[in-house]
Amino acid sequence: MQKHFIGGVRPGSIIAQDVYGSDGVLLIKKGSMFREQYIPRFIDAGVQEIFIEDNGNMTPETIASIRKSLNIQDVIHDKTRTHAQSQIKKTMLKFKSVTNADIQRIGQIVEDMIDQLLDKKDFVFALSQLRSVDDYTYQHSVNVGVLALIIGIDLGLEKEQLKQLGMGAILHDIGKIMVPEEIIKKPAKLTAEEFSEVKKHTEYGYEILIQTEIPEEAAKIALHHHEKFDGTGYSRGLKNTKIPLFARIVSVADVYDAMSNDRVYQRKSSPDKVYREITHQGDRHFDTQIMETFARHINIYPTGTGVILNSGHRGIVLYQNKLYPESPIIRVFLPKEKDVRRLYFDLDLSLNTKWHIIDTF
Ligand SMILES: [Fe+2]
Repeated sequence: MQKHFIGGVRPGSIIAQDVYGSDGVLLIKKGSMFREQYIPRFIDAGVQEIFIEDNGNMTPETIASIRKSLNIQDVIHDKTRTHAQSQIKKTMLKFKSVTNADIQRIGQIVEDMIDQLLDKKDFVFALSQLRSVDDYTYQHSVNVGVLALIIGIDLGLEKEQLKQLGMGAILHDIGKIMVPEEIIKKPAKLTAEEFSEVKKHTEYGYEILIQTEIPEEAAKIALHHHEKFDGTGYSRGLKNTKIPLFARIVSVADVYDAMSNDRVYQRKSSPDKVYREITHQGDRHFDTQIMETFARHINIYPTGTGVILNSGHRGIVLYQNKLYPESPIIRVFLPKEKDVRRLYFDLDLSLNTKWHIIDTF
């Protein structure tokens, strides 16, 4: 346990003692995770220093070396992912137009992705660990493409349909190039007017794509990817299977990937929260069959994820428990001062019900 000035506490640190304001009111309980947004509240309440848990033997170097040794593999090749990201970036940064040459290049990338995915027997999607907020839109577009293809393959779509699905999924947000950048990048909640401006990206996207040689089925993904199964979405308020199949697939992939990552205005949710939220929203917002298909290919805690346990210890996910996805096998790091001989131990959470994951980092 160490004492730190509020300004020097790293977000994600575990608070080691209950924190009270100068009026004696409890501000936050021990064991909670420190977040940057607490700082003004603590300062207002007269708190200058707090105690945080020592990270023990878990240094950034040990985390990096474990992740390296786990040989975490992406479902598509790094080269394909990088190529896809730079292609979508180029397409979106061009002056509000998409050419047939862009469409052909994206079509080629999607064919490569399909071949690589079909090559794998059992693909489980693992989110890349590091993503920059700046390149969020491009990384998100590619992830939505990969996730949509995984669902499409499991649903038994033909190769040509998969190609249309993948292209439309990668380009689903292309209409955002027509929405003012200050609204897209606004680091706060949008006003009602701004939100109605953002909603137009679905119409804009369809108008842009329909002028190219992309098949209409793919262009319709841009128009309908914010429709909800119960009819409460946009742009047309379509219900149930009136929403085109490809758009139903992309809406699941889109919401999942958006929630799993830091955005300009919102920090990411932990993988288990995303998983639960998305399966709860299930019957109202999504096509249940598509969601169940999707859930089979998602790890709640992908290998290599940093986790925080209810005991305050930190660890790294080593392996999955196929039957108990919420209880993986983890390497737990011990506090430095307690045991100099042992740096860590490995723990199967499915066999130790006393321990469970409360957050990720
Ligand atoms: Fe969108």
